[in-house]
Amino acid sequence: MSSNPFLDPTLVHGGLYRGNGRLADRTHALHRAKISGSNVADTIANLLAARVPRGAVVLDIGCGRGTTTLRLADRLRPRQLVAVDASTALLDTTRDRLGHASARGSMVCSDFHHLPLPDKVADAAVAAFCLYHSPTPATAVAEIARCLRPGGTAVLVTKSLDSYAELDHLVHAAGLDPHATNRPSLYESFHSGNLHTIAAISLTVLDVQHEDHFFHFADAMHLARYLTTTPKYRITLTGGIPAIAVTLRQRLPAPPYTTQSTVSYAIAVRP
Ligand SMILES: C[S@@+](CC[C@H](N)C(=O)[O-])C[C@H]1O[C@@H](n2cnc3c(N)ncnc32)[C@H](O)[C@@H]1O
Repeated sequence: MSSNPFLDPTLVHGGLYRGNGRLADRTHALHRAKISGSNVADTIANLLAARVPRGAVVLDIGCGRGTTTLRLADRLRPRQLVAVDASTALLDTTRDRLGHASARGSMVCSDFHHLPLPDKVADAAVAAFCLYHSPTPATAVAEIARCLRPGGTAVLVTKSLDSYAELDHLVHAAGLDPHATNRPSLYESFHSGNLHTIAAISLTVLDVQHEDHFFHFADAMHLARYLTTTPKYRITLTGGIPAIAVTLRQRLPAPPYTTQSTVSYAIAVRP
């Protein structure tokens, strides 16, 4: 088992993404805290709209709850949209969300290291915030490259190694987890700093763009809600979110609590 929970397959597939609740709670808490930074799904769709014609075949690898998938459906109007994920629960959510938006897509339950798709089938592929769950992200990028037609475009998205590091210090200072500042980054396998190098093994990288996102948790309950969705911390306090919020109020200076993350996009083509 890896000491990094994002690289522990039992935790990733058996716990973190088995249902849709934790990811929905985490996304909701982060979005509510965000004070600057573009909408990531919009940015991905904009990057691809400039390069991909209408009627394309588009893959969304590691689609999660389908937030990016929905945006790709709306913006690119693909002939075929294929959402791939290892979690059947999240694929069900993506299917439902597409259905509510009167959009169509095929759901494929698969490991992104072995995509059950033919060679050269896609005009475009996205892998957003998922390749950091792989101990060998270059293998997954090679699979994505295999599925792209020559000249087809990939957009690979990840975060910086130091994402949300300010929260490690707050959790440590509040006495909630004495080792919070010593743990590896959740993003250590695939991050802003190695994105270009890993993408360039199988693809021709056209550009890498970075954008800083800032977050502002206005009160202790909001921060406590977010902390319980991140597997980085070992918070043993009983009493759940309300008890964590009480501890934060007692032991930290008054809010807001702020943190940041850099979101990085590689735009690359299959040679
Ligand atoms: C943070 S979510 C992705 C969110 C989504 N791409 C978005 O931008 O809204 C990470 C996803 O990667 C998926 N995942 C992790 N490891 C995987 C693997 N080996 N193969 C396929 N999917 C995987 C998880 O099931 C989860 O849905």
